[in-house]
Amino acid sequence: MTIRFVFATDSHYHPRAEKDFGPPKMLTRGREVLEAMVEEINASRPEFIVHGGDLLCGGSAFELPWELYLQSVDDVAAAFERFRAPFYCVPGNHDCDAGTGTFAPLAEQIHLPELLDVVDVAPRLRLALANIYQANPMEVGSGEWTEDLDTALAEAGRQALADGCAVILVVHPWVLPGFAPPESPNQGLVKGAERLIETVSNQPAVVAVFTGHRHINRIRMYRDFLIVDTACLIGFPMGFREIRLGEDGLLTAIWHQLDLPEVLEASRQRSIPEINDRWQGEPHDRETEVLLPRLRALWSGGG
Ligand SMILES: [Fe+2]
Ligand SMILES: [Fe+2]
Repeated sequence: MTIRFVFATDSHYHPRAEKDFGPPKMLTRGREVLEAMVEEINASRPEFIVHGGDLLCGGSAFELPWELYLQSVDDVAAAFERFRAPFYCVPGNHDCDAGTGTFAPLAEQIHLPELLDVVDVAPRLRLALANIYQANPMEVGSGEWTEDLDTALAEAGRQALADGCAVILVVHPWVLPGFAPPESPNQGLVKGAERLIETVSNQPAVVAVFTGHRHINRIRMYRDFLIVDTACLIGFPMGFREIRLGEDGLLTAIWHQLDLPEVLEASRQRSIPEINDRWQGEPHDRETEVLLPRLRALWSGGG
């Protein structure tokens, strides 16, 4: 038995952008990217689809007015209706309205976790979908891993272990430090990341953590679990991940680049090669095979 799913993130749809904003984003091409995303994810025939947040261009930086925010929610909800597999997502800091900080219009059309949703997505596999924006995302852009989230994850981990199920934690910002200026070494990192890492370390049913937010591809083993960070879909390298989980505990990551060569090239031209390499990561940050010891132990243990 192999489980196949898609992980996509930071698609940042804008219904009427007058400029592309910071590279590698191509916000003026939002409609084409949204259409290609739905079509190509469907074509890869996943069992389910997970989005890591920042579906929209609300929140800070983009100055999206309320009417356009509502329009973008409608457009994205209508497009994602066409997914031919169950869809799950976590909120990102750009999924709220810029004026009020509310996620409510999006949550009315696309289910968002209030704290931590734990869902059975395949035999012996659960997602733990975290909402780390309990405070206004305009103030805490990278969110916070709170005590309540920590308690909920520990409980989900214990329950999954008892049931012989693996858990994948999905959270919008990064959980391990990355490129950052010396004056703010925790840039893009969820507040309370150390505690999150400690709790995951202590919960052997949690086999991997998937994130977005930094718009950079990176795959790292930390102790005995995997951390999969994924680049944005709205700019270079303009793709999504197909993930396969084998019964033997092997995770295979396959990179699908959208078939929009002209938009991709325009995005690539916005940065020097060294920066583009940062967005896309090394070859094994895009496509790799990793044996997950926790998954192997859970799935080969019978039951
Ligand atoms: Fe983003
Ligand atoms: Fe973000």
